[in-house]
Amino acid sequence: MTWLITGGCGFIGSNLADTLLTQGEQVILFDNLSRFGSSDNLEWLRKKHGKNWEFIQSDIRDTDEINKVIRESSPTVIAHLAGQVAMTTSLQNPRLDFEINGLGTLNVLEAVRLYSMDTIVLYSSTNKVYGSLDELRYREMELRYELTDHPNGLNESLQLDGQSPYGCSKLTGDQYVRDYSRMFGLRTVVFRHSSMYGGRQFATYDQGWIGWFCQKAIEMEYSDKPSFTISGDGKQVRDVLHARDLVQVYMQAVEHINNASGQIYNIGGGMENSLSLLELFGMLETFTGFSMRFETLKWRHGDQKVFVADVSKATHDFGWKPSITKKDGIREMLAWSREIYNGN
Ligand SMILES: NC(=O)c1ccc[n+]([C@@H]2O[C@H](COP(=O)([O-])OP(=O)(O)OC[C@H]3O[C@@H](n4cnc5c(N)ncnc54)[C@H](O)[C@@H]3O)[C@@H](O)[C@H]2O)c1
Repeated sequence: MTWLITGGCGFIGSNLADTLLTQGEQVILFDNLSRFGSSDNLEWLRKKHGKNWEFIQSDIRDTDEINKVIRESSPTVIAHLAGQVAMTTSLQNPRLDFEINGLGTLNVLEAVRLYSMDTIVLYSSTNKVYGSLDELRYREMELRYELTDHPNGLNESLQLDGQSPYGCSKLTGDQYVRDYSRMFGLRTVVFRHSSMYGGRQFATYDQGWIGWFCQKAIEMEYSDKPSFTISGDGKQVRDVLHARDLVQVYMQAVEHINNASGQIYNIGGGMENSLSLLELFGMLETFTGFSMRFETLKWRHGDQKVFVADVSKATHDFGWKPSITKKDGIREMLAWSREIYNGN
């Protein structure tokens, strides 16, 4: 099989490429290396897997380039992961955000429609397409909010409500990817992701909160470091998914493409791997032995109190469910964050 991974030097892309190359698949990575850490991931893949695969440094906004690579390679699968990923950037520059997430996704779909109709297209959407979810009912507990009416998490029937330019541009991509299956018969699959974490993720203030707070936990070991800030009261909950589990989602959906084609899936760690910020801090304190010193700021606009994916549709259609527990995964993430912190 030939896999083309747009955004292939990012966090998810480099984890997917690593697994595919280990299994001996043909891999082409397409990335403009705009993200902090992507060049490091490219070097890491080159060191680990030699040069028996292709890297194209280019931009998904460049229609000619994306047409050329898809026409010439006719990949079996495209994992379309290239994207503008930060909410803050989308507020500062909504046009750039739309051109990458909206038009960039249309470029990929059009190239497949025109030149490679058999290619399977996988798209990494987000739970942000459901908006703030203020309409749901919540219970406030000591360390977290809970969903009153959804004990197994939230399924794909939630109302769509793109909030923020990022939410709107990802929703645009999400709907186009699905619709190209209905209108043109492309084999496409949309994954609406909760929070993901794992090795090769270079977390920042506004992307990759597990990694970001692992960095803060390491800084807390040095008494001269000031306290850090969080938005909201820390009881907001997400279901966290480790990168290795995520890679399995993509591979299993491709194996069962007759079931998955044209479908949309909420993908996350599920209720068992749900975690509030306060619960994460408790876990990190246990692992490091240092207390997390933080101050609270007001809530971020549109922040969901709880998002936990009900993954039963993915389990039913292609036999996937998460296998790495939040405790094991976060211990590993702390080790990876320490490596970056120490500049290794
Ligand atoms: N990581 C998460 O928790 C999460 C959650 C929901 C959705 N997603 C989606 O999954 C996808 C991958 O996320 P990630 O965490 O690996 O992000 P990432 O930022 O680590 O990787 C994205 C990659 O895309 C590249 N890129 C950005 N703009 C590009 C462009 N115009 N042309 C070509 N390459 C470009 C970047 O250089 C980077 O290597 C994104 O589309 C994101 O919206 C991620």
